[in-house]
Amino acid sequence: MSSSTKGIVLAGGSGTRLHPVTQVISKQLLPVYDKPMVYYPLSLLMRAGLREVLMISTPRDLPSFRELLGDGRRFGMQIDYCEQPRPEGLAQAFVLGREFLDGSSACLVLGDNILHGPGLSETLTECATLRDGAHIFGYRVRDAKRYGVVEIDDNGNAISIEEKPEKPRSSLAVPGLYFYGPDVCDLAADLEPSERGELEITDLNRRYLEQNRLKVTVLDRGFAWLDAGTHRSLIEASTYIEAIEERQGLKIGCLQEIAWTKGWISKEEFRREADAASGSSYGTYLAEVLERAENKSAGG
Ligand code: G1P
Repeated sequence: MSSSTKGIVLAGGSGTRLHPVTQVISKQLLPVYDKPMVYYPLSLLMRAGLREVLMISTPRDLPSFRELLGDGRRFGMQIDYCEQPRPEGLAQAFVLGREFLDGSSACLVLGDNILHGPGLSETLTECATLRDGAHIFGYRVRDAKRYGVVEIDDNGNAISIEEKPEKPRSSLAVPGLYFYGPDVCDLAADLEPSERGELEITDLNRRYLEQNRLKVTVLDRGFAWLDAGTHRSLIEASTYIEAIEERQGLKIGCLQEIAWTKGWISKEEFRREADAASGSSYGTYLAEVLERAENKSAGG
């Protein structure tokens, strides 16, 4: 299995803002409506066409991710695992992931970021062809100072990027989804820890900006970008997913469905997944997807 861009899901952190809920479980394993949170960022990598993925998490939580996702074969993927011993920053993913990436381009997604909107698969697939520089996104939010903030000029070129600035220069927050060319590990290795002792993803992105190699795509108002960092945003994310899924009868972030649609798993493998999940609404959905496809191919 080879692809020239590989994916990394970073699901570390101690989740202190969600204690006591996260006292014994990773934040990224908490439910967002009908599936574990990590399904959503993982589904973004799949929709970008990436089949080789490294899951990074804490020594405490990594075994749970492994139990949930296994070697990835069920989803037509290859999932590897790596411990982040201490929460020393998002850019550490490229220090820990150097061997895994082995000179490939990379897409890093944060395990608590949920992104949903029109044409996303096409955008992500296009981004995954990146072989030089970095490609990030901007999303208008009301409270930009909680995030990385990017400022762009009239032509859409990035002119500044700051992490959680007191006075944001723009309303464009940077979602936790980043694409990099093959030199990302070298650039990350050069970073110095910030005042809070972390290798900041925003510092990494600034290096690309300084070299005129940072591209920003602004996600317009048709997109939903949700992070589940507080009790409230966790409920809001669940409510959002519930509203869309129940209205349409289609699921967001259904890994088996994406894998089958992409031809990464066979119909028989998909059926096994549906059978294994029977008794849950998730399993019922998989069975419906199968039935719909069978009716269609029978001309019904
Ligand atoms: C991190 C990044 C920040 C980014 C955010 C997206 O912040 O440091 O630049 O905008 O993720 O979710 P954190 O959530 O770790 O505070």
